[in-house]
Amino acid sequence: MKIDENLHWILSFYRTSEISGALFFGELARSLRPSAIQQDMTRHFADEANHARYWTDCLDKLGVQPLKLPAAYQNQYLAAAGMPTNLMEILAITQVFEKRVVSQYTLHAKSPNVPDIVGDTIKTIMKDEQWHLRWIRDALKDMEAEYGADNIKDTLKRFTLADREVYEKTALEHQERIGDLRLATK
Ligand SMILES: [Fe+2]
Ligand SMILES: [Fe+2]
Repeated sequence: MKIDENLHWILSFYRTSEISGALFFGELARSLRPSAIQQDMTRHFADEANHARYWTDCLDKLGVQPLKLPAAYQNQYLAAAGMPTNLMEILAITQVFEKRVVSQYTLHAKSPNVPDIVGDTIKTIMKDEQWHLRWIRDALKDMEAEYGADNIKDTLKRFTLADREVYEKTALEHQERIGDLRLATK
């Protein structure tokens, strides 16, 4: 089976993005002190590593090899939003990023002519992504006493604006490849 060049690029982009997520959360899991957050973060990074594996397997089943793409997206994110300076900011930027991932995969699953194997891979990944959103939301709620609810809200707002900026820039840059998926906005 010969797949469309744009789909090949998008699935490779997802794979690269999941690897970046796994490495980012893996570093965090290694540096955190023993806590519920350490435990959840460890499960989280293992999930993201599996997601990279699912996309790698999916590409293989479609008869293509993953494209080697720069891990620019996550880096742009940090550049636009500013490096998080504490655990609350790390969780806030993660929540914003995870929401973006979920909306992108939802949109992709609903777009026309999605091969079954791609739809199935998205469905499998989405089960984990729902949990990612949930544990981070709960952890942020628990942090309100320490960091202040308004401060957390403002931080989420700041990262949401940065997210929109980076996403729109990326969508514009890869307009032809993304096609219908470029309509993804939050
Ligand atoms: Fe993921
Ligand atoms: Fe995730």
